[in-house]
Amino acid sequence: MKAFGLRPRLFAALILTSAVTLVVAAAALLSPLEQRLRTDGQQAVYNAMDSTRPEFEEVNIDPATNRPSFSELTHTAIALRQRSGGQVTILNNRLETVYSMVRLDLNVPDFYAEARRAEQTHKRAAALRGGALIAAQPMRVGPRHERYVVVVKRRLDYVSSSFHTVQNAFIAAAGAGFGIALLLGIALTTTLLRRLERLRDATRELEQRGLDAPPPNDQGRDEIGELARAFAAMQTQLRRQETARRAFVATASHELRTPLASLHGMLELLEEDLDSEHLDLEDARERTTRAREQSRRLSQLASDLLDLSRLDAEIELRREPLELGEICRAVAAEFDLSAAERHVHINIKPPPSPCWAAADPGAVARIVRILLDNALRVGPANSSIDLEASANEHWRRLTVRDRGPGVPADERDAIFERFTRGSTTGSGGGFGLGLAIGRELATRMDGALELLDSGGDHGASFSLRLPPAQVNVDELADQ
Ligand SMILES: Nc1ncnc2c1ncn2[C@@H]1O[C@H](COP(=O)(O)OP(=O)(O)O)[C@@H](O)[C@H]1O
Ligand SMILES: [Mg+2]
Repeated sequence: MKAFGLRPRLFAALILTSAVTLVVAAAALLSPLEQRLRTDGQQAVYNAMDSTRPEFEEVNIDPATNRPSFSELTHTAIALRQRSGGQVTILNNRLETVYSMVRLDLNVPDFYAEARRAEQTHKRAAALRGGALIAAQPMRVGPRHERYVVVVKRRLDYVSSSFHTVQNAFIAAAGAGFGIALLLGIALTTTLLRRLERLRDATRELEQRGLDAPPPNDQGRDEIGELARAFAAMQTQLRRQETARRAFVATASHELRTPLASLHGMLELLEEDLDSEHLDLEDARERTTRAREQSRRLSQLASDLLDLSRLDAEIELRREPLELGEICRAVAAEFDLSAAERHVHINIKPPPSPCWAAADPGAVARIVRILLDNALRVGPANSSIDLEASANEHWRRLTVRDRGPGVPADERDAIFERFTRGSTTGSGGGFGLGLAIGRELATRMDGALELLDSGGDHGASFSLRLPPAQVNVDELADQ
């Protein structure tokens, strides 16, 4: 057991809580109980004395002795004994015993002090002596209201015996409760700690064996179960990411190898041509063109891979006011030459008013380039490509529409994945990275890159949606 591990701490807390509960309960219950039992006993005696007062007053005079009737006095004393539960002795005002239930010669009376006090003060006097309550009460007897003192002696032993009974019961109950709490505590901490240990082992396993280690399995419906499930989910997610990363690296190196190999082959052939006696210039020129095309593709791939790795490294994109009509014109101008080569016209539809989006200018230009590049590749000769910026209440939109064959329905999602090319690739292919990069960039700017429904028309429409910029138009006009 570790000195400050969870188990000793839980135990200490459990024992402390139980002990404090018991002590507080004992203090709150047991000590007032004894006091209470004692005052109750006392009060019962006083009540009994008060209630017999009228009966003493009604005792008649015995004509034979001219004193209060002894038999009636006895009768009242017996009633008092029954009510108070104590021994009753009646004394006259000279403190001579008139009636006693016990033989006073055997039982040395110990109540004279109280009796005297009662007689002198005309008030009830009481004392606790030797575990007994002695209460002396002045009493008027008979029609002549003669002064007597009635003494009741009641043992209060039952108080301490009741108290001890309760105390014993309390100790037994407390002991049982304490034991049960301890057993429950042991059971609970053992299972909890075992589950935590399993979780710890799973973590260590992960550390040693990597992501393929078995994930922790805990079906508990409590916090530890949740922790284990979160842990397993995290591991699954990490494994998925790791698999994707490996696949990406593998595909990327494969994609790099193919054009490199063909570049290498072409250069070799060119070298042979140069070494041969009769150099076929036409042939050599064609090989050089093809080699240059391969190297262009390679540098394209390199820049795509760089883009992707930047995106994966979560490089911050800028967020600044950007006029979409302006950026359309700028990027379209870059394509003037290749569009002319293909006899395709890029038709820029200017927005009715400046269309400000909050975005990263470099990223938006990159996306427009990706879309225009694709559109140019699939668009038939003598067709046109529409490039349009538009705005509504919530969004700024940039749409690129071509007159090519469009995207088959079953490829609409797949073409946005990395290294995935569709069936329509047009002349001179890329590596299936353009749309993946575009979508990632758009998402990172809180926008979206979507393939719009062409609604039966020929061609494909891709749309870049961006959040609007809060610009003060006057301010910009002043600049
Ligand atoms: N304008 C378009 N018309 C038809 N299909 C397109 C268009 N743009 C993209 N695609 C499809 O999406 C695929 C993925 O595009 P992209 O990610 O740019 O990769 P790449 O251009 O290297 O093929 C393309 O291979 C093509 O099949
Ligand atoms: Mg492309």
